[in-house]
Amino acid sequence: MKEVFKAVNVSDCVYWVGSIDWDIRDFHGYSTSRGTTYNAYIILADNITLVDTVKAPFKEEMLSRIASIVDPKEISIIISNHSEMDHSGCLPEIIELVEPEQVYASVMGVKTLSNHFHFDREITAVKSGESISLGNMEISFMETRMLHWPDSMISYLSEEKILFSQDAFGMHLASSELFADEIDDVLLHDEAAKYFANILLPYANLIPKTIEKIGKLNVDLEIVAPDHGPIRRTQADIKEILEHYALWAEQKPTNKAVVIYDTMWQSTHLMARAICEGVGDSGGYVKPMQLSTVHRSDVATELLDAGALIVGSPTINNNMFPTVVDVMSYLKGLKPKNLVGAAFGSYGWSGEAVRQMEGILDEMNVERAGESITCKYVPDGETLERCFNLGKQVGQKLKNNIK
Ligand code: FEO
Repeated sequence: MKEVFKAVNVSDCVYWVGSIDWDIRDFHGYSTSRGTTYNAYIILADNITLVDTVKAPFKEEMLSRIASIVDPKEISIIISNHSEMDHSGCLPEIIELVEPEQVYASVMGVKTLSNHFHFDREITAVKSGESISLGNMEISFMETRMLHWPDSMISYLSEEKILFSQDAFGMHLASSELFADEIDDVLLHDEAAKYFANILLPYANLIPKTIEKIGKLNVDLEIVAPDHGPIRRTQADIKEILEHYALWAEQKPTNKAVVIYDTMWQSTHLMARAICEGVGDSGGYVKPMQLSTVHRSDVATELLDAGALIVGSPTINNNMFPTVVDVMSYLKGLKPKNLVGAAFGSYGWSGEAVRQMEGILDEMNVERAGESITCKYVPDGETLERCFNLGKQVGQKLKNNIK
């Protein structure tokens, strides 16, 4: 069985030796509906080097792929670009097996690995701008703190013009086709956007500087090799992802309003429908999402290129509806920017939910585009008209914001 797992040639002396996780559907709260890959790479330099490892249960798959080109015990250097356990989970076992001469990580990576594995193994810290010799080649490092962990760094192999970008420029997409030019463009775009929205958005303000720093490396990138999803080896694919990262990081408002809500007895649903009609009437593009039918990570993805977030919830036991609590808590953590919004919802007697949603919108710095609407039990015509007008107000505000 082991022999079926082969290394895949990426360039003259670099091979992909990662693993494909076809089955994962939840990645710490992110819905990985198309699975993922954990990418690791072997550099067949004088000093054979392993860049990153894989999630612990996939160790044997990685070792088998390595063994298809070289005896794993010949690895003399391991580079850990990122300590999160999808890339470091089997690192202690690999170190024990391979007994490499050196293991490198960023300054924070050394600490983070130690905090994870509590091992005695000495890890050598490297800083931004530092290079190490692999014998006949050189690899240099750039720390990318908080993209998306404090330890994150990327590595550049100048001889092959390959950027090992760890989580950056990646996506959760299991595929037997390992290169972006072999995969449908729409699928690539959508999964890359989802990854950015759910993983990198809280630190989006750091992205332009990172792209600038990559530019300052003064190198012609020929290959971008992330730790998840397809490898980019054409100039068009590299340009595409860099441009999209710059665009997504900007979070420039569009005329799109995302209306998220849940409902108990259809009252808040009716209000949502009227609001959506109002947004549409004012020329805005509306995306209604009833939260019992969509995943929080898909809401985050929709919000990436939106200009408005409108949120609705009935009051249940003095609180927001559970699905609304879940999604609002998740969205707040992702820190989306440049949004306008509003809150609405029905209630029976106490009606706290709307006030609670307003509080979260305020914490998220979402500018209120109109007065929130509450409705006792079931909306009448007058209430639905108010909802319609609130939608129009939001749509108008969007129009003004994108002028
Ligand atoms: Fe793919 Fe942040 O780990």
